[in-house]
Amino acid sequence: MTPSFDFGMIGIGVMGSNLLLNMADSGFAVIGFDLKQERADALEAAAPPGTTVKGVVDIVELVQGLKKPRKIMMLVPAGKAVDSVIENLLPHLEDGDILIDGGNSFFRDTLQRINYLQDKGIHFFGMGVSGGEMGARFGPSMMPGGDAEAWQYLRPVLEAIAAKSDGVPCVAYMGNGAAGHYVKMVHNGIEYAMMQLIAEAYDLLRRGGGATNEELHGTFAAWDKGQLQSFLVEVTAEVFKTQDPETGAYLVDLIVDQAGSKGTGKWTSQVAMDLPVSIPTIDMAVAMRDLSANRDQRVKAAKLYGKKTGVIELTEEFRADLENALAFCFTIAYAQGLSQLAKASDELSMNIPLPAVIQVWKAGCIIRSALLGNFTKAFGREAKLPNLLLDADIAGILKNREASLRRILITGIGAGIPLAAFASSVSYYDAYCSDRLPVNLIQAQRDYFGAHTYQRTDKEGVFHTEWHADSQS
Ligand code: 6PG
Repeated sequence: MTPSFDFGMIGIGVMGSNLLLNMADSGFAVIGFDLKQERADALEAAAPPGTTVKGVVDIVELVQGLKKPRKIMMLVPAGKAVDSVIENLLPHLEDGDILIDGGNSFFRDTLQRINYLQDKGIHFFGMGVSGGEMGARFGPSMMPGGDAEAWQYLRPVLEAIAAKSDGVPCVAYMGNGAAGHYVKMVHNGIEYAMMQLIAEAYDLLRRGGGATNEELHGTFAAWDKGQLQSFLVEVTAEVFKTQDPETGAYLVDLIVDQAGSKGTGKWTSQVAMDLPVSIPTIDMAVAMRDLSANRDQRVKAAKLYGKKTGVIELTEEFRADLENALAFCFTIAYAQGLSQLAKASDELSMNIPLPAVIQVWKAGCIIRSALLGNFTKAFGREAKLPNLLLDADIAGILKNREASLRRILITGIGAGIPLAAFASSVSYYDAYCSDRLPVNLIQAQRDYFGAHTYQRTDKEGVFHTEWHADSQS
């Protein structure tokens, strides 16, 4: 086949096909590979008139059809499938070709693949793609990282298909090595935190306050027009009005209360602890999904303890407080994720441009929200800000909402509603903004039982004390 295609895709399920069709809309000639003939046919059938879209079931045909340097994206499940596609492709690739992993791969796997392929002259890119199927078709947010030299070849096509925020594409070079997958992993950690916070707000309103699904729809739809304007709040409002066609009941009430997960939130927490950096709201979001999955035990415990939820009066003040509390905690979740990126960028020499990360998250992705505008300003004032909480304007936003959050916690925890993400957000804030924490006592205890030593406030040096009364006598 004469090389005439601009971009190739391995894996043309809905996501892969939609990305290719999006590229085709922008005038790029695209080719997709899948083992299944039906998928190759479906891709071609979906091509808008006047576009060049081809589906093949022979990987060699795909490689030979591409212009050099070849640009090939893999959209296959993270893990072994990625390695097996790489092995299948390798004999047919040439020096300078660019291979992109667009799945949610673990960043350490991506690093290994970069090193493995570098030796063979192939530029490997780990790229987070956010926004689901519709995003892929009409404008995803994309987080590519890898070889800076190869970025120039990817930039035109990725900028053409990306979501735009105020006309600026939501794709940018995220840095060296596995920076792209690292940024996407943290995006997902923040996604988990925001979803858990929304779920806790739902619990307060529904279980505590007895709000109906219609009222919940109204509340979230109204919030989506104000300070909480975001994709996740919008989606939540939509969920509350969706009825089950079979029974006519509200679908959300028929869904089993066990949260699934594919692991990206867990990775965010795991690697944060390795750094180390504190991201307790994200940690709690992971922990609460895990706890929810233990449904049998929860049902037994519910019988054993016979806990009754207190009644929460849904006054205008309570609703306004809850809106403010969510804005406070969303900001904390972003701050935690961005502080992780700042530290990881240094530790792993990724050189992640945080202002660009915020731009990329402004449209197309799951965590897009109006709050990000405040962060652009904060990073505009200090591009290397280690934590958003250190910015004076962000401090103002948090201070103005702090009292609302404390009132929500007092009422909600008093009523027996689990508020793990709300509570960990305020504790993070209280601890981060304390010039004296009680860990002097922890240092004393460590030294008492393990001779781990401590430092003193009144003089330099490292000290150990024989704390036991009898050893001192
Ligand atoms: C996105 C999402 C997506 C993620 C799913 C599933 O940005 O489009 O982050 O990539 O894989 O939301 O995540 P869990 O199954 O772990 O909830």
